[in-house]
Amino acid sequence: MIQIEDLKFEEFIPENNILNRVKEISEKINTDFTNKKPLFLGILNGSFLFAADLFKHISVPCEISFLKVNSYINTESTGKMKELIGINQSLTDRHVVIIEDIVDTGRTLQYIFDTVKAENPASISVITLLHKPEATIIPVKLDYVGFEIKNEFVVGYGLDYNGYGRNLPAIYIKTKD
Ligand code: IMP
Repeated sequence: MIQIEDLKFEEFIPENNILNRVKEISEKINTDFTNKKPLFLGILNGSFLFAADLFKHISVPCEISFLKVNSYINTESTGKMKELIGINQSLTDRHVVIIEDIVDTGRTLQYIFDTVKAENPASISVITLLHKPEATIIPVKLDYVGFEIKNEFVVGYGLDYNGYGRNLPAIYIKTKD
């Protein structure tokens, strides 16, 4: 049991299970992207550890770059606006592979997907370490999923609670109490 600020968490997916699954996904990518020179796009901050571990096992020629989604309240309208920052190379005709930490409602991923699509890549694939199917309200195409989890809050291995917990090597789930 660990405490992060006001919440308690217990270990949920041990480090070894994560690393084994990451390796399996990398091996699939190596098969699926032979001769395609994929361009990986890691979504910050949450995917930084996952993207790094995954990338270590990629053996086909490839590139990686990192993007960040800024969310802000637009005072002109009531909606929450999103902005994808960090695209500083051409995605046109590239085989783009988006690396996400977790897909919850699917809103963030849909926004990233649409923004990438507007750059006319040859293909777009999505890898997410975690997916909460019960929470997903926007249908998003997930090509590689590490683990499907229930609709509970998790931290660790890059994921945070109020900025803390990203350094935990395993994934922890909020306790019921
Ligand atoms: P979505 O747009 O609702 O799919 O939310 C995706 C983003 O919300 C992720 O990239 C995370 O930053 C954050 N998120 C969603 N669920 C969790 C969780 O259980 N723990 C930590 N962050 C989460």
